[in-house]
Amino acid sequence: MKLKDHVAIVTGGSGGLGGASARAMAREGAKVIITDIADAAGKKLAAEIGGEFHHHDVSSEPEWIALVAAVKKAHGRIDILLNAAGIEGDLAGGGLSTSYDGWRKVIAINLDGTFLGCKHVMPVMLERGEGSVINIASIVSFMGTPTTIAYGASKAGVEQMSRSLALIGAADGKHVRCNSVHPGVIKTRMTDSIFAQFASNTGKTDAEVEAMICASVPFGKRGVPDDVASLVLFLASDDSRYVTGSAFRVDGGWSVVHAG
Ligand SMILES: NC(=O)c1ccc[n+]([C@@H]2O[C@H](COP(=O)([O-])OP(=O)(O)OC[C@H]3O[C@@H](n4cnc5c(N)ncnc54)[C@H](O)[C@@H]3O)[C@@H](O)[C@H]2O)c1
Repeated sequence: MKLKDHVAIVTGGSGGLGGASARAMAREGAKVIITDIADAAGKKLAAEIGGEFHHHDVSSEPEWIALVAAVKKAHGRIDILLNAAGIEGDLAGGGLSTSYDGWRKVIAINLDGTFLGCKHVMPVMLERGEGSVINIASIVSFMGTPTTIAYGASKAGVEQMSRSLALIGAADGKHVRCNSVHPGVIKTRMTDSIFAQFASNTGKTDAEVEAMICASVPFGKRGVPDDVASLVLFLASDDSRYVTGSAFRVDGGWSVVHAG
């Protein structure tokens, strides 16, 4: 029970990577507060793992303020923040035809949402002098993404911001850690949707797209959410007590080929 008595907030907890990570943390004894805008899946998971569900839009600062106040009142502490909420945006209009509204939406959820979580949760951790913030970025933080320029920019921003936050969390003798996690192609609703959009844009079948993309991954397949959850668990626990400001790839070797 590596996370006994720990309180964890998991945004995007109704989704693939957030959900698997919430399960992994609960298995290790954490009280997990799942937040998402998708209520049904989040409520179901919270009931299953003995956690809580809060409806919460990560791009809303008032909702972050209310969430942190409620968790602090109920539990008195926050040990772990996993920022896993995110959207892929519209791939069809993702290059120079990206609309400003489309750009703002992706940045508002992926980058602003992560910033707001850190801004409002880290002070609670700093009061106790310890805690772990884990920001889900992507391997696209390290590469050009001409068909999804907003998504790539948002994830590069999350990576860079995580380094700054690591320095803030280490000031004045505190040990509030902040690291970023960079998944490659993991089987969730998000990659199913990206593959389907890609298939409809190119006239290929979903199976052809899957085979084509997996052929470019050295391990030859999509990862599964638990592959990411085990890294998240390491970063959430004391096993990583001397680890901060680092960017961790979990991608079956994909970025070695595609992002250097
Ligand atoms: N699956 C992958 O291969 C992959 C690769 C790289 C990065 N990521 C990142 O991992 C994170 C999780 O993605 P996933 O693959 O689990 O996708 P997912 O769609 O299964 O989960 C994302 C969750 O975020 C929630 N969400 C969306 N907008 C929100 C908002 N405004 N406020 C709160 N919640 C919101 C969704 O309802 C969903 O439950 C995302 O940040 C994504 O960009 C995923």
